[in-house]
Amino acid sequence: MSDLRIALVPGDGIGVDVVAEAVKALTAAADAAGRTLRMTPFDWGAERYLQTGVTLPADAIERLQDGFDAILLGAMGDPRVSDNRHAADILLGLRFRLDLYVNYRPVRLFHEKLCPLKGRRPEDVDFAVFRENTEGPYVMMGGTFKRGTPDEVATEIDLNTRRGVDRIVRHAFDHARARRLPAVVMADKSNVLTHGHGLWQRAFREAAAAYPGIEARHLYADSLALQLVRDPAQFRVIVTSNMLGDIVTDLAAALQGGLGMAASGNIHPGRISLFEPVHGSAPSFAGRNAANPMGAILSAALMLEYLGWAAEASRIEEAVRWAVENDRTTADIGGGLGTREVGDAICERLRRS
Ligand code: IPM
Ligand code: MG
Repeated sequence: MSDLRIALVPGDGIGVDVVAEAVKALTAAADAAGRTLRMTPFDWGAERYLQTGVTLPADAIERLQDGFDAILLGAMGDPRVSDNRHAADILLGLRFRLDLYVNYRPVRLFHEKLCPLKGRRPEDVDFAVFRENTEGPYVMMGGTFKRGTPDEVATEIDLNTRRGVDRIVRHAFDHARARRLPAVVMADKSNVLTHGHGLWQRAFREAAAAYPGIEARHLYADSLALQLVRDPAQFRVIVTSNMLGDIVTDLAAALQGGLGMAASGNIHPGRISLFEPVHGSAPSFAGRNAANPMGAILSAALMLEYLGWAAEASRIEEAVRWAVENDRTTADIGGGLGTREVGDAICERLRRS
């Protein structure tokens, strides 16, 4: 079995703390299976940007494509870079330039004590959000006119292409079909954004016709927000646009215990893809052994699953579930341990299981 080659981009703030724990868990899982992972760190982030002016180096995309199977990223964001320029260049740059059009955000409740809703059990919160990841207002087309004057005008274009919508919608249906899930819910704001999200409506209906056994259900995004809180058990697969998906997945993260628990994959099927916890860099917690490493560890498991190491991926998930059940957790989800101690507990479990 060939080695996997992983590029590590811890980034800023708690990204550094949590990626260290993900590396420990990956190593423990690989060791237990007698397999090898080659991990190479890259120092892309605020510190390097402030020192050298370089955000994403010119040869970064080529190096990644030529030398690696996947990227594990921590977080980007630093109060010293007020416009977040480096984060846009690095994180959004990788999403766009590697054409990682699927933002896969599974939402699973590991234990009912983590859910802020009354009486919800793990089987009630178990769905995946497929967020379009290369279009929408994120393309940063737009500008300002008469900037800094009372007459200032500012615009951003919400870009939707037929090709871009088709491919994410079909990916969501493929996921449902592969896992025998009954329905795909598409959320948009086509009642207002009649052009761009009208395109989503047409693409969704046409794609649905190619997946006859799967119910194709539509909700406006505001209604989806309400339904996710009222009755999350009705959802298994949700597909939506870039910006709506950004908002919906923070809400969804709350259902599973908060941002510390949420994992994601930025994927172009068959190509090098990027995995990262959904949380940000939380500068005030950085380096204090306080951040919850589970989102990063679960993102590392998603990465292994994507790369074909399914058994190792489920063993990592099982170890995280065990840590949650046994309160080997950080304060954000009610525990009393530090980042490193949670990582140690998960690794210990991986070595024993
Ligand atoms: C996310 C984050 C990013 C986004 C930010 C950091 C640019 O909120 O991955 O959800 O908006 O996509
Ligand atoms: Mg977000």
